[in-house]
Amino acid sequence: MRVRVLGAAAGGGFPQWNAGSDACRRARAGDPAARPATQAGLALSAAGEGWVLVNASPDLRQQIEATAELHPRDGLRSSPIRAVVLTNGEVDAIAGLLSLREGTPFALYAHPRVLAVLDRNPVFEVLDGGLVPRRPLQPEVEVELADAAGAPLGLLCRPFPVPGKLPLWLEGEARSLDTAALDGDTLGLELSDRGGRRLIWAANCAAVTRDLAERATGADLLLMDGTLWRDDEMIRAGVGRKTGRRMGHVSMSGPEGAVAGLRGVPVGRRVFVHVNNTNPAHLADSPERAELARAGWEVAHDGMDLSL
Ligand code: MLT
Ligand code: MN
Repeated sequence: MRVRVLGAAAGGGFPQWNAGSDACRRARAGDPAARPATQAGLALSAAGEGWVLVNASPDLRQQIEATAELHPRDGLRSSPIRAVVLTNGEVDAIAGLLSLREGTPFALYAHPRVLAVLDRNPVFEVLDGGLVPRRPLQPEVEVELADAAGAPLGLLCRPFPVPGKLPLWLEGEARSLDTAALDGDTLGLELSDRGGRRLIWAANCAAVTRDLAERATGADLLLMDGTLWRDDEMIRAGVGRKTGRRMGHVSMSGPEGAVAGLRGVPVGRRVFVHVNNTNPAHLADSPERAELARAGWEVAHDGMDLSL
């Protein structure tokens, strides 16, 4: 299975447009230890022919241009991108759909709650329903991903609920807000090929549950929510009032963090993705990055090849 990280950063990217932190300044200055990163996304393919995207970040156009495998190959209008799977309705997961207009077919998969978000926003009608069928993903129902015409792509997808919340921009409509609900607003994905290679994508996840740990057991690759190093990071940095928990993201460190929660779970490779611009793990020379390495974790970067 071919697997490429299209974007490693959380919403806003690294550096974020309005962020003047030391880390973001270093990234802008070309410091090799502060590598810029676009907003989170993944591309995978069973055989390098047709590709599936996980999420469509606002940086998708740039990510496609940076990835030769995703360039058109046939004639004046074509794309090897055959399907897009959305795991949530946050801006950083869906805005890139708008860059996929222009009349090339692909299949769009998402939980019915996320499809409803698209359905009620007429701007997404730029994706002609005749060319871009919207297919519901039901938790725990494995599907073989297929292109717009129904031709199988050789990849199986089993979505599963992970603790999370509805998108930030819809919070105003919520009667009460459970930031670690299991109702489908955020999905994890188990993606596998016919050869039995298996990866887990849980890039938006409010807590490490027993279910997640069990699913990850024996996987070749785990891509895990790496938004924050610590829960109160944005408050301490003076750039926000919310904890990670409030934002629906488990932190890397701490007794309830992802490193501790997944310690001892056998996984081929464990990689943090969706890393926020405030997270010191972006910095290759930070003590936090060294601590992650000692614990067996990698931090994704744009273009990272994670083929299995
Ligand atoms: C998130 O992952 O929490 C969102 O991307 C938040 C946002 O849209 O800024
Ligand atoms: Mn996000």
